[in-house]
Amino acid sequence: MSSIKENPMRSIRTLLAAFALAGVAACGGGAEPNGDDTVGDDDDDTNPDGDEWDDLLDQRETDYSAALRIAALRLTGELPKLVEIKAVADAPAAQQPDVYASLVQAYLDDPRFTRQMIAWWKDTLKLGDAAMLDSAAYLAAQITVEGRPYTDLLTAATGTCPTYDAGAGTFTAADCQNGVAVHAGLLTHPGMNAQFYSNMAFRRVRWVQETFACTAFPAELAEEPQDLGGAALYASPWPFTSIAGAQNGGRVDFHDLSAVACANCHSTMNHIAPLFLNFDDQGALQTTSQVMLPVDGSPIAEPADFLPAGEPTAWRLGVATPDLPALGAAMAADPAIAECAIARAWNWAMGKGDIVDTLTVVPRDVIAQQITDFAAGGHVYKDALFAVFTSDDFVKF
Ligand code: HEC
Repeated sequence: MSSIKENPMRSIRTLLAAFALAGVAACGGGAEPNGDDTVGDDDDDTNPDGDEWDDLLDQRETDYSAALRIAALRLTGELPKLVEIKAVADAPAAQQPDVYASLVQAYLDDPRFTRQMIAWWKDTLKLGDAAMLDSAAYLAAQITVEGRPYTDLLTAATGTCPTYDAGAGTFTAADCQNGVAVHAGLLTHPGMNAQFYSNMAFRRVRWVQETFACTAFPAELAEEPQDLGGAALYASPWPFTSIAGAQNGGRVDFHDLSAVACANCHSTMNHIAPLFLNFDDQGALQTTSQVMLPVDGSPIAEPADFLPAGEPTAWRLGVATPDLPALGAAMAADPAIAECAIARAWNWAMGKGDIVDTLTVVPRDVIAQQITDFAAGGHVYKDALFAVFTSDDFVKF
């Protein structure tokens, strides 16, 4: 998989597309977003209107043979067969797009695509290589290859711990046996809850945010930061005392403003974390909190350590989510989650690393049409992958 992960031409191409389409002044002297310094460092940009970038974009040439090679490696893990290479190379120009597209579709329907998806989802979910963890990647791969909605990752109530027969290339649906009454896709999955077990369940919350929203915390920003008398400004839209802290009896002071504003991140995080408290370090749901506070004596973390009495759990400000199925439904309805899904597909096709870890952010404009189509088509990820691998940006070099 690693041999062509970074195609330098493609990096440049993506950067160009990103800058040109986002209307970014590329030569501001700052670091390139993905650390690629090949293009855009010349300081003699005399075309601030972006024409230079449009020209460069226009100079790209469609090369279906080169695109086929990369698509085959990503989608099947193998080089295209000779007969496929010749089908594209020998097709009359007018038919090349269709021949190429039909091969991409065939790769997506190939059993080797299943294998690729399992590996890709292990990477993406940062989960795998133990049976219980693998079943999370199997669920995601099964949802993808069977053309089910991506949102099933967050909402599936049954079959969330499938098994996979590598020889036959088939999944067998199975329910997770971790004490959960109503499942919510990967949110209630024992593998996820075991792997990301931590103090106050915050690592699970971080995983939810980074995997599905593609950004690190803080996740919510107020229009105007507030000066509440500390060294740091409070920049979250949540009421400051909607989370626990010194001002309302929390044992960890999330109201601290002496160096950083804890509440900038924890206003969102504390409204989600109580939903994950009762999963133990094996990912099994218990009837009481299973996570600890990182203070003397490591006491068990209680809901009152996160939120004052009566404050509901929530995905975002104004989106109360009383349980994990509600959280999954709220996330499934959040356009930021669909955008993240498409950005991950795009980065994979273009050979980029993890969107959060490497900050290879995809400007929204570049993938706006694909996001719209994804939502309109019922969030079928397989269709979104087809759209990305047949897009102009993928087949032009
Ligand atoms: C930039 C966002 C951000 C800010 C600001 C922030 N946190 Fe956190 N905090 C996180 C994230 C993300 C985690 C989970 C890290 C992980 O486990 O991967 C976390 C974890 C924690 C934990 C659990 C640590 C453990 O032992 O696992 C505590 C306690 C905590 N934060 C308290 C605070 C306090 C108190 C402040 C202010 C002094 C603060 N945080 C500021 C994002 C933030």
